[in-house]
Amino acid sequence: MEMNSANVEAVVKQVLESMLEKKVPEAAPAQKAAGNEIPKTAHVAMLTALEHFEIKEYPMPEVGDGDILVKVEGCGVCGTDAHEFKRDPFSLIPVVLGHEGTGEIVKMGKNVKVDSAGKALNLGDKVVTCMIFKDDPEITMYDLNKQNVGGADVYGLLPDDDVHLNGWFSDYILIREGSTVFNVSDLDLKSRVLIEPCAVLVHAVERAKTTGILRFNSRVVVQGCGPIGLICIAVLRTMGIENIVAVDGEQKRLEFAKRMGAEKSVNFKDFQGIDALAQGVKDAFGGHAADFAFQCTGSPIAHANIYKFIRNGGGLCELGFFINGGDATINPHFDLCSKEITLVGSWVYTLRDYATTFDFLKRAKAIGLPIDDLITHEFPLEQINEAHQTNLAMKGLKIAIINK
Ligand SMILES: NC(=O)c1ccc[n+]([C@@H]2O[C@H](COP(=O)([O-])OP(=O)(O)OC[C@H]3O[C@@H](n4cnc5c(N)ncnc54)[C@H](O)[C@@H]3O)[C@@H](O)[C@H]2O)c1
Ligand SMILES: [Zn+2]
Repeated sequence: MEMNSANVEAVVKQVLESMLEKKVPEAAPAQKAAGNEIPKTAHVAMLTALEHFEIKEYPMPEVGDGDILVKVEGCGVCGTDAHEFKRDPFSLIPVVLGHEGTGEIVKMGKNVKVDSAGKALNLGDKVVTCMIFKDDPEITMYDLNKQNVGGADVYGLLPDDDVHLNGWFSDYILIREGSTVFNVSDLDLKSRVLIEPCAVLVHAVERAKTTGILRFNSRVVVQGCGPIGLICIAVLRTMGIENIVAVDGEQKRLEFAKRMGAEKSVNFKDFQGIDALAQGVKDAFGGHAADFAFQCTGSPIAHANIYKFIRNGGGLCELGFFINGGDATINPHFDLCSKEITLVGSWVYTLRDYATTFDFLKRAKAIGLPIDDLITHEFPLEQINEAHQTNLAMKGLKIAIINK
């Protein structure tokens, strides 16, 4: 066929038309699944009695104009879940737990356009929720306690309702209109599962910075090398603070602390009495007491001890007591007044810290910190009871439910 300009035009038109035909969507994009078909039912792990989760099946709910249906990829097991599992202190049973979760948007209402930070949301995006209300970026758990927490958007901590899919220990979750939700598609699955505990440390370090004592070249002691202390070390390292001494009684955890960036470690079990231990910490800093200390254990004795590691005029951030762990005895004259210690407490995080945490995770990985290794155990949803028992037995660091 001779290709004159009229012919070319006709061919182009034909091709364009056929392309357009193929492009006509079968359903509105907001109502189409990103990957596989959305099943008719969803599964949640519901805590129906102490230390007993049951997998329950419910019809897939309607997705309202402002709602988001998420296919859950994974969710970390938190200390709060452990308290609920063991004692139900907040009388939530029956409840679907899991607030450290993440997954992929598979369906969303027509009014959903952006996340709580103003970033576009599309099918296939990976998201997390946040326990802190979006209205006030500086609001903390402290303020939340005085408000109606059961307002709208807390997932994994509210009793079951008639929609049922309201915790991240599940295969699908319905994020309801008005919830705080973030598009974190640029983070890998493990990072996304670790956002919530990491936000606790971003907040603690922000609290520490308010003292004006924490600087690039500060000597910093981190006491307690569970997930909280280890992440504390990682946050300090990403800020450029390198002179870090980790204190714990578990050698394996102290070794991890070094991989995470602590320069030296001190095993308190190697010392008899607090004076010897304080000298051990001093020796680790080459004969100096610490400029700043982070208390990351739930032990009142550890709280009393930590003042002895800090120099006159130094600072302390106490964050180890998320719940009441009992009274600690200090000597206000020797430990606080005469040393002029600046002390800050830290509890949970603000919404701003939560968003900052996304960048922290990228930076930590970029400088080679072994953040992923904090997740030591992965279980499928069906083994959620085993996952929680493993967590209670303190067999690992972070335990996660990962849906295959
Ligand atoms: N501030 C907050 O918002 C917040 C949030 C989450 C957790 N927390 C608290 O942080 C604490 C730590 O959490 P985690 O998940 O890492 O707990 P964890 O139990 O896994 O770790 C605590 C570590 O402290 C060590 N330890 C105990 N006594 C010690 C002592 N005398 N000296 C030095 N080390 C000692 C233990 O060996 C353990 O490795 C918990 O008590 C938790 O309640 C606080
Ligand atoms: Zn948590």
